[in-house]
Amino acid sequence: MPRFSRLFNPPARDILPSEITPESLYLNRRQLMTAGAGLAAASLLPSAFAAGDLVTKPSRYNVGNEEKNTFEQITHYNNYYEFGTDKDDPARNAGTLKTRPWNVVVEGACEKPKTFDIDSLLRLAPLEERLYRLRCVEAWSMVVPWVGFPLSELLKQVVPTSKAKYVEFTSLADKKQMPGVTMPVLDWPYTEGLRIDEAMNPLAILAVGLYGKVLPNQNGAPIRLIVPWKYGFKSAKSIVKIRLLENQPATAWNKAAPQEYGFYSNVNPEVDHPRWSQASERRIGEFLRRKTLMFNGYANEVAGLYKGMDLRKFY
Ligand code: MTE
Repeated sequence: MPRFSRLFNPPARDILPSEITPESLYLNRRQLMTAGAGLAAASLLPSAFAAGDLVTKPSRYNVGNEEKNTFEQITHYNNYYEFGTDKDDPARNAGTLKTRPWNVVVEGACEKPKTFDIDSLLRLAPLEERLYRLRCVEAWSMVVPWVGFPLSELLKQVVPTSKAKYVEFTSLADKKQMPGVTMPVLDWPYTEGLRIDEAMNPLAILAVGLYGKVLPNQNGAPIRLIVPWKYGFKSAKSIVKIRLLENQPATAWNKAAPQEYGFYSNVNPEVDHPRWSQASERRIGEFLRRKTLMFNGYANEVAGLYKGMDLRKFY
């Protein structure tokens, strides 16, 4: 078993709300203003709308009556190994990440490959606030009000060809800005992948904010993937490249520990991780464990994508 496969662990003990310390968010004011300035009519908004607030429309894709996690919880209990492997490392270290200028290259099996400037991505489609469950493979979960737009909107822009069967996502890996990239924890850069029909599903979004604000660095600024029916590690942060591919791409966690982290990694309470159960989860901030839901509660929307597939084999 690769030495680093032990890094992903279920929490040894439950985290209490009081252990999550509010800290500054490392969002530099200039970045906020740039992002804010790109938004339609931002200057006409009431003054209570500080720079960095995002204009969103409500979404029909929201979890029911579950309570949101707090901004502090969502921004101080993170996995972002480029900034360290402890849950509080990203909040402490991600201030060095420069999110402007920022480009996302979209290439591969498509008719119109294009490099998108981040500010043009903020205007590509109406931004929606979506309250989604985030279920980490380590058996903890949160409910997060992401701000983003459907991934399909970006993919449509480059016109995928019939050869585009998969989509690969690559995160930034810059030793100068990311202290964790000097450690051989994963085979950097962090990469992830989806099948094209998964990527086109309306639930898959590119998030650029949370709680109505520009995404904090520790949550994957300036743009990250969110695939709410899959374990959180599929949702690559700080994306710099998206490639349309004919063949299934290698992914960082699958390369690190193939028996533990499959390509699909759909949330499935019936298929345990080799080292722990996936039947229940700990919602950050709650005392009692919850039952994990099939496809993280999104079965109505996504079960059809996997019809006829053995989900034990394709874990
Ligand atoms: N993306 C990159 N580039 N590096 C990472 O370490 N961690 C993943 C995912 N995306 C990770 C990443 C994991 S394991 C999870 S659970 C989620 O990000 C956590 O997202 P959050 O910190 O916003 O809750």
